[in-house]
Amino acid sequence: MQGIDQAVAVVTGAAQGNGRAIAIGLAEAGARIVACDIQEDAVIRVAEEIRSRGGDAVAVTLDVTSLKSCHIAALDTQRRFGLPAKILVNSAGIIRRTAPDAPSFDDDWAAVMAVNATGSMNMVRAFLPQLRQSSGRIINLASIMSVAANPGLTAYAASKGAVLQMTRALAHDLSPEGIRVNAIAPGVIETPMTLATRENPEALARFMAHTPMRRPGKPEELIGPVLFLASDASSYVTGALLPVDGGYLAA
Ligand SMILES: NC(=O)c1ccc[n+]([C@@H]2O[C@H](COP(=O)([O-])OP(=O)(O)OC[C@H]3O[C@@H](n4cnc5c(N)ncnc54)[C@H](O)[C@@H]3O)[C@@H](O)[C@H]2O)c1
Repeated sequence: MQGIDQAVAVVTGAAQGNGRAIAIGLAEAGARIVACDIQEDAVIRVAEEIRSRGGDAVAVTLDVTSLKSCHIAALDTQRRFGLPAKILVNSAGIIRRTAPDAPSFDDDWAAVMAVNATGSMNMVRAFLPQLRQSSGRIINLASIMSVAANPGLTAYAASKGAVLQMTRALAHDLSPEGIRVNAIAPGVIETPMTLATRENPEALARFMAHTPMRRPGKPEELIGPVLFLASDASSYVTGALLPVDGGYLAA
């Protein structure tokens, strides 16, 4: 695919769920994958899986909440492939379902913001010199919760609102350097993150009542939208939020 074939693509959260599917999808489109995650064994297995399917991939263990860890990953990337990264997909994320007066609120708020918001920015900052060299593309995993909200999700929705606004603001900052920055907004996708929601009939019904397609999505259904935003097919698209939500945000 034009703009993706042979490009170095860095995907965080690649050990499972959406990040894993996106890493595999980018590899099948010809990208060389740097699969990053805090779960060392699992991310190594994903890189092995990509290689066993004929793709090119390395695994990098990192904690996106640490800027230093992201800088080390950036050095590793350049060293392993001898090329600057061209595609950065920020998929590492966590969710904590917490009431505003819960005793754990402080910890939950800090953890969710650190991974989802600060972690995405840490990766952008660490890879910026490479993305400048490659006229790169950044794709952030926002959410339907970037613009809508549900009970118990104050921290998560706030963090995903931050991801959306970070995407828009970065589009302003980085367009002059030839870097495009976009986000996708998945609805309920069948990953470990949403197991609790999908196993709770009331919570699932609340989401599905607002989802014209009346079903959760599969991680593989994020691949096409990501390939679009990573490829030259979206050459005049930046600062955009692309819903991938079965119509949730249209309801
Ligand atoms: N699943 C959904 O319905 C849904 C909907 C909208 C948005 N999203 C977003 O998609 C992204 C991926 O979610 P998912 O459903 O695949 O979740 P998941 O829990 O299945 O996977 C998240 C991955 O991120 C990794 N991770 C967590 N903290 C990390 C850290 N500090 N450093 C490095 N890696 C870390 C985890 O180890 C895990 O492999 C998240 O940003 C999430 O908010 C998911």
